[in-house]
Amino acid sequence: MKIFRVEPASKLFGEIRMSGDKSISHRAIMCGAIAKGKTVAEDILDCDDCNFTMNAFREMGVRFERDGRFTIIHGVGLNGLSNPDKPIYVGNSGTSMRVLAGILAGQEFASMLTGDKGLCNRPMSRIIEPLKMMGACVHAKADGTPPLEIKPAKLKSIEYKLPVPSAQVKSSILFAGLYAKGATAVEEKLKSRDHTERMMKHFGADIKVDNLKVLISGGCEMKGVDIMIPGDISSASFFAAGAILLKNSNIRINGVSVNPSRAGMLDILLRMGARCRVVNRIDAFEPYGDIEVESGPIEGIVINESDIPGIIDELPIIFVLASLAGGKTIIKGAEELRVKETDRITSMRENLNSMGGKVYVSGADIVIDGVEKLKGADIKSFGDHRTVMAMTMAALTAEGASSIDDVECVSKSFPGFFNLLDTIKC
Ligand code: S3P
Repeated sequence: MKIFRVEPASKLFGEIRMSGDKSISHRAIMCGAIAKGKTVAEDILDCDDCNFTMNAFREMGVRFERDGRFTIIHGVGLNGLSNPDKPIYVGNSGTSMRVLAGILAGQEFASMLTGDKGLCNRPMSRIIEPLKMMGACVHAKADGTPPLEIKPAKLKSIEYKLPVPSAQVKSSILFAGLYAKGATAVEEKLKSRDHTERMMKHFGADIKVDNLKVLISGGCEMKGVDIMIPGDISSASFFAAGAILLKNSNIRINGVSVNPSRAGMLDILLRMGARCRVVNRIDAFEPYGDIEVESGPIEGIVINESDIPGIIDELPIIFVLASLAGGKTIIKGAEELRVKETDRITSMRENLNSMGGKVYVSGADIVIDGVEKLKGADIKSFGDHRTVMAMTMAALTAEGASSIDDVECVSKSFPGFFNLLDTIKC
């Protein structure tokens, strides 16, 4: 386990380009694998989670070639996957497990999905329940955790209302819907990231989106395409926050996804009074642009339940911003944070409070009182990539050095995090 020492920084300065978005990369690999023909994808993220998804398809007979920033996917068609001869291991990747389960549920062969200790503690009933309604034969352990055992079944279409907004669950059902007879409908109360809908449409699936309702037709063959994956806004958010908090900072982050269902962070930053704007916006199948950020004071705000799906992965860094904002921040309806890679309410509360922050839970709300300055401390990663990256930014602003354990876990989503940070840190 690598312990990393973080010295306070004076500012962040310069221009960087974000590596490909993790969620969009997963979808590109999945759609490319089950589409017919060749897909050429630019900037698929080379990180642990996406590599697990790619390996899963390799084990089912799909060929991938990496050539610099390009990945060629030799798609085998909707019914062209072959029987993997061993359990498919997806490490710590919740997206791989939950969404792949939807694809595997519709195959004519049996399969098993398993992961590391952390993933094997995460809830899977949220996908098992709708997949079973579709006729799938999917079983987890008695407490609803992995491994998942999947047996061949004929799927039927359903109309499903998601109890909790979750793009992983929505996507699992939509992929299973490709294998079902008829049209499957998924409806959400609040819109979660719509990368699957956009990706399937780009690959030629028969998919319709009507506000919060998505309709996918079964049996439709997708076709290989050329795609460019925009940069990851969740990863960009760490640098944006660092630049806001460290005086005299000025950075530009190029090529970042600004998909409205995903980019809630930009709205939160503006509501907090941060100096930040999107320039050079391009409206491709996934919109993207360059984000310019300067340091400046920020104020606490109220974050409502309706904001949460659009910032679910950015909440750890929002905890850090709120800890150094003027006044109070209240975050409502963020219980889903408890079932992420770790319980992120606990990981962020314990770490920030050990640095002199004031984070507490009041009923169902998270309350954060801003402080003038944080102090260096021994920070715990909890094995969670986003806890490490958020706390690194907190440590850069602190008085005195900090240490963070187990920083290698950033390779889950952002292997180049520390190297890229070094290029703009002064
Ligand atoms: C993801 C959806 C979100 C997010 C996760 C990636 C996706 O999870 O937190 O990091 O790619 O679909 P939920 O679906 O559990 O909200």
